[in-house]
Amino acid sequence: MKGFRRCLVLLLVLLVCLTACASAEDKNTETPAETEKETGSISAGPEDGVDSVAVNPKGTLTIGFVMIGSESDWRIACNRSVEEAFSRENGYYLVMRDGQQKQENQMKAMREFIDMDVDYILLNPVAENGWDAVLQEAREAGIPVVVFDRKVRTADPDAYTTWIGSDFLLEGRRACAWLEAFLESRQYQDRLNIVHLQGTMESSAQIGRTRALDEALRRNRRWNLLERKPAEFTTAKAKEVMADMLKLYGERIQVVYCENDNMAYGAIDSIERAGRNVGANLERGDVLVISFDAVRHAMELALKDDIAVVTECDPLYGPRLTQIIQQLKRGEVPDHEIYVKEAQFSAIWEPSQVMVNGIAHKVTKLTEEIIENRAY
Ligand code: AHR
Repeated sequence: MKGFRRCLVLLLVLLVCLTACASAEDKNTETPAETEKETGSISAGPEDGVDSVAVNPKGTLTIGFVMIGSESDWRIACNRSVEEAFSRENGYYLVMRDGQQKQENQMKAMREFIDMDVDYILLNPVAENGWDAVLQEAREAGIPVVVFDRKVRTADPDAYTTWIGSDFLLEGRRACAWLEAFLESRQYQDRLNIVHLQGTMESSAQIGRTRALDEALRRNRRWNLLERKPAEFTTAKAKEVMADMLKLYGERIQVVYCENDNMAYGAIDSIERAGRNVGANLERGDVLVISFDAVRHAMELALKDDIAVVTECDPLYGPRLTQIIQQLKRGEVPDHEIYVKEAQFSAIWEPSQVMVNGIAHKVTKLTEEIIENRAY
């Protein structure tokens, strides 16, 4: 009898424990979306947990920002511009996820935002292909996706809501047109040996700028591509790749076509370490550097002729994106593709314009004043 009573007591205790555990578990089973929205979490990495910042007030729009990373000065300016524009004061609740240059991280972030049921997703895709499935998931969930900067290539053109970004092919064409015009102005008739540092492979910026150089190589029989190699849009990688190229080709290198400013910094460093001079005096044996982006430091290098020509890629997407989101909120339909207007700068030689496929594009003479007023 005693044994039976002890068993009964034990059973009761066990029951009480199980009920307590179940109710504790209930409290922890909020979806990540609920947790994020209620705490107002903004985190930097895909693995980051919830770090409470503030509460998302009612009436604000929740925006999921799928970032690429921070490979370049340009990217840092771009991320900052988005973060500033989608501020709490402006009525937004921005959740940022850093893809760290990996598409799989970006996909994971997309799915996280879909689970969170955010109002809009801003997708800054690292590469063009491979987005169909996740974009379809966002569409089924009724979440508009605004793609910006680089493009996505999808079977269904309506897989995303709108895209805004640069015409990377035009940027490359302008850079090559500048080089053609420059050589002509110097009556340079000899063979021209070029090396090419490419950005992140399969990204729109790499695809467009590489294609433009390929077209120019076909047009200019005397231009000779010694080698091209990816350098990931980073200074460190470009330094390494350029040093290897210099070891291999030495004095033969006359032009380096860098697909962004940070790679130009790396290339210049290696060129100077190898005892060569950067500049535009090809007869004297200079290495002529071509770059893209036009961030402040690159402009400073261009002003002292270390970079011969820099074709702008505008990173200030924040205000443009808020405009699109407001349009969507009002039920308006923005254009499906929006191209940003960009400039080109040189201090070495500045024709007032270069021609690309019969269309004139302005070349701006670089001055200290332009650099002082540069926002990034
Ligand atoms: O997609 C834009 C490119 O990516 C910029 O040229 C480069 O600097 C960046 O990392």
